[in-house]
Amino acid sequence: MTDRTSAHTLSKERFRLLTRALLAYLGPYKSRLYQAAVSMVILAAIKNLIIYISGPVIKGVFMDRNAHLLQLVVLGLPLLFVLRMTVEYVNGYLMSWIGQRAVQDIRSDLFDHIHRLSLEFYWRRRSSDVMSRVINDLNNVQSTVQFIPLYGIRDSLTVVGCVAVLFYINWRLALISMIVLPAVAAILGVLGRKMRKASAESNVIVGEISHRFQESLQGITVVKAFNYEDQAIARFRVANDAYFSKMMRYLRATALSGPVMEFVSGMVMVAILYMSGKAIFSGTMSTANFFSFLMGYLTAYGPIKNIGNMNSKLQQGMAAWERIYQILEEKPAVVVKTETKNIDRLEGRIEFRGVNYKYPSRETQVLKDLSFSIAPGEVAAFVGPSGSGKTTIVHMLLRFFDPVSGSILLDGHDMTDLDTTDLRAHMGLVTQDTILFDDTVYKNITIGRPGASMDEVVEAAKAADAHAFISSMPQGYETVLGERGVKLSGGQRQRLAIARAIIKRPKILLLDEATSNLDTNSEQAVQAAIERILGGRTVVMVAHRLSTVKNADKIFVLKKGELAETGTHQELLKLGGIYKGLYEAQT
Ligand SMILES: Nc1ncnc2c1ncn2[C@@H]1O[C@H](COP(=O)(O)OP(=O)(O)OP(=O)(O)O)[C@@H](O)[C@H]1O
Ligand SMILES: [Mg+2]
Repeated sequence: MTDRTSAHTLSKERFRLLTRALLAYLGPYKSRLYQAAVSMVILAAIKNLIIYISGPVIKGVFMDRNAHLLQLVVLGLPLLFVLRMTVEYVNGYLMSWIGQRAVQDIRSDLFDHIHRLSLEFYWRRRSSDVMSRVINDLNNVQSTVQFIPLYGIRDSLTVVGCVAVLFYINWRLALISMIVLPAVAAILGVLGRKMRKASAESNVIVGEISHRFQESLQGITVVKAFNYEDQAIARFRVANDAYFSKMMRYLRATALSGPVMEFVSGMVMVAILYMSGKAIFSGTMSTANFFSFLMGYLTAYGPIKNIGNMNSKLQQGMAAWERIYQILEEKPAVVVKTETKNIDRLEGRIEFRGVNYKYPSRETQVLKDLSFSIAPGEVAAFVGPSGSGKTTIVHMLLRFFDPVSGSILLDGHDMTDLDTTDLRAHMGLVTQDTILFDDTVYKNITIGRPGASMDEVVEAAKAADAHAFISSMPQGYETVLGERGVKLSGGQRQRLAIARAIIKRPKILLLDEATSNLDTNSEQAVQAAIERILGGRTVVMVAHRLSTVKNADKIFVLKKGELAETGTHQELLKLGGIYKGLYEAQT
C-alpha cells in the first residue's frame, strides 16, 4: 500500500487537479446549482431582513406599546417564516440532490473503471481497500459536495449581511465583536488540521477492519478447522483498537471546537452587553438598535461556525476524493491500440516467440525465452511441476498481461495488435476453481453467450456431465447459485464451468486443471464430450494427472518457466527424461 500517507499532504497542483476533476462531476447539474445559489441568496436576504426589522419591532411593541404594529407582526412574521422555511427547504433539497447525483455518477464511473483495469491492478490492491474507498470515502465526498456550497454561499452571504447591519448600527461595537474572529479562526484551524489528519488515518484503518472481516467471512472453514479463531480475533482487535484511538483523536478535536466557540461567543456577548449598556445609558445608542445588533450577532454565530469548519470539511472531502481519484486515474496495464486488427474469423494458431515474463511484484522471471507453436485444431498440453508457469501461459493467451519481451502471435497477428474484447470472444477458459455469480444456473452457464437457448444450455450441460445434478435440484436450471444461493461441490462447480466454456464454442479452449475436481470416470466422459463438441478447435490444456494429456497432439514439459521437453506421449516416454519420470511416478 503506497498511498497510506497521501491524504493530508496534497500538493497545490494535485489539489487543483482534484478540484477540477470533482467540479467536472458537478458540471451536468449546473442549472440546479444556479437554482440552489439563487435560493441561498434569497435565504440570506430574508435572514438579514429579519435582523433589520427585529430591533424596531421589539422597540415598537414593547417600549412604545404600538398595538397596530403588534397586529402587523402577528400577521406578517408567520408569512416571513413560511417563506424562509420554503426557501431553506428548496436549497437544502437541491444541494442534497446535487450531492447524491454527483456521487452516484462517481460510483458508477468507479464500477465501470475497475472493469476496464487489467489484472495487474487486482494484484496490487486489496478488494477491501477498494471497497472502503467506494463506501466511506465516497460518503465524505458527498457531504463535502453538498455542504461546501451551503457554507460558501448561504452562510457567507448571511454573515456578510449581518456584519453590514452590525456596522451600520454601531461600527465601534461591530469592530470589537469582530476582533475575536481571527483568534477563533486560528483555534479552529489548529483543530481542523488535527481532525483532518486523524480522519485520513482512520479511513485507512477502516479499510484494514473490513479486510479482516472479509478474510474471516471468506475463510471461515479454515479458520474453524485450524482453531484460528483466537488469532484472527487478536489480529482484528489490533485494527479495531487502532481505529478507536484514531477516532478519539478526531472526536476530541471535534468535541473541543464546539465549546471553544461557545466560550468565545459568550465572552463577546458580555462585551457587547457591557458596551451597549454604557452607550444606552449615555444616550448614544437606541434600544431598538441594541436589539437589532444582538439579533445580528446571534444570527451570524451559526454561519460563522460553519465557515470556520469549511476548510476542514473541504480538506476532509478532498482527502477522501484523492483516495477515490487514485483509483479513477489508474490506467490499464494492458493497452489496447486505437487501430486493432480484425479477427472476426480465427483459425486458432498460437505462437510464442522468445517470451519472457516476470510478475511486477517479484524478482525472478517466471517465463524464460519461451518459444513454441500450436497449429489450428491441435490439442496441446502443458505439464510440469507446480509453479513452473503453466497458468501464467494460459493467462497470457487471454492477454491478461503482456510479455516483458518477446511476442505472442495468434493466427500470425501479434497479440498487442488485437482488441482484448475481440480476442477473448474466441477463448473459452475453465480453471481449477470456478467462480459462480449470484444468479441462476442458466445465467451462470450463458455468461459467455447471453441469450443462448435452453436446448443449447442443456446440450452443453449434458456434455459437461452436469445435466443430471442440475435436473435434480428443485428449480433445475432456474436454481440460484452463488453466495446467497445453492452451494455446489467442487466437481459440480467445475462441470458448470465446462458447460460455460462449451456453450461459448470458442475457437481456442483453455483448460487449466479443468477436470482436476472430477473423478476419473466423469473426467473421461467429459473429455470425450469436449472432443466431440469442440472438435477442430485449438485446445490448450494444463493437467497434473498425466492420463489426461496422453492423447494430446503435443505435450510441452515446463521446468521453472523454460521448455524442457516437447513431443507426443510416446516420444516423451522414449526420451526418458522428466516426463517419463513423472509418468512412472503416477502409474
Ligand atoms: N499474481 C502473481 N504475482 C506474483 N507472482 C505470481 C503471481 N501468479 C503466479 N506467480 C508466481 O509465478 C510462478 C508461476 O506461477 P503459475 O501459476 O504460472 O504456476 P503453475 O505452473 O500454474 O503452477 P500450478 O501447477 O501450481 O498451478 C510461481 O512461482 C508463482 O508464485
Ligand atoms: Mg496453475
